[in-house]
Amino acid sequence: MSDFLNVLIARRQEEAEGIISLELVDPAGGWLPPFEAGAHVEVHIAPGLSRHYSLCGSPQDRRCYRLGILREPASRGGSAQIHKTFVPGTLIRISQPRNQFRLQELAAHSVLLGGGIGITPILAMAWRLHALGASFELHYCVRSRARAAFLALLEQAPFADKVDLHIDDDARSLDIPALLRVPEVNRHLYVCGPGGFMDAVINTAREHEWPSSNVHYEYFAADVDATGKSFTLHAERSGLILQVPEGRSIAEVLLEAGVEVSLSCEQGICGTCLTHVLGGIPDHRDLFLTDEEKASNDQMLLCCSRATSPFLKLDI
Ligand code: FES
Repeated sequence: MSDFLNVLIARRQEEAEGIISLELVDPAGGWLPPFEAGAHVEVHIAPGLSRHYSLCGSPQDRRCYRLGILREPASRGGSAQIHKTFVPGTLIRISQPRNQFRLQELAAHSVLLGGGIGITPILAMAWRLHALGASFELHYCVRSRARAAFLALLEQAPFADKVDLHIDDDARSLDIPALLRVPEVNRHLYVCGPGGFMDAVINTAREHEWPSSNVHYEYFAADVDATGKSFTLHAERSGLILQVPEGRSIAEVLLEAGVEVSLSCEQGICGTCLTHVLGGIPDHRDLFLTDEEKASNDQMLLCCSRATSPFLKLDI
């Protein structure tokens, strides 16, 4: 099976300020490959440019894939280009669905938290839990009603009674400590949203002693911090020794030197640029590797991580 699919944009809708949704179908009218709640696809936007988006429709519905896409204010061409050029009738290329944000379907109760555009994987989870007849609640946190995507859908969904909308501008923010006060053994928490929101939820869950295995999260945007000392990079297979200055990523320096580097999110989220470390100590700045994987220091992400040692040797 090819890892890529050609799909047709069947529908595009303005969902909220700066957010569109797209419905993607098989151009031949067939069913699309199955996907699990929490899965994402990599969307090819232009040669060398792709972005990851969560599938937000029901995993039961294989007639189409639904995506929600926020035009990021600091977009380097990815989401801005989608907003500009992805119109109904356009054929695009996407990856097969992949899942790094899995639902524990046998949980006694699931608490779903979506912040802003982070509602997208949470929506697919709600559809799945509803289909299973499972116990869950969904909290959707947004700054304002104007920026809240999928509101009509949530109001009309068969699980609408399980949805709580929290709007900052209406002084109806979510009381996270109150929500997470009581961890239970078979209660699972899922969160996706902006970094500050995620950190608040994850830290509160830790304070209230939720087992880490019951707290699931997916960052959809990370601030890539390129500050830090310069260091020498030995690209072993390419036979190059390069200098990575402050303010530039390893990936940028390698690409400029003509080394092929696979990139997608460029934010330390997707793992596409994962590379083996042959020497030196990485300064891990990604959200992809686990703490244990980071501690082993034998692999790193080239789009965002740097070095704590003056010298780094990579298998590239
Ligand atoms: Fe996604 Fe580096 S390109 S983690």
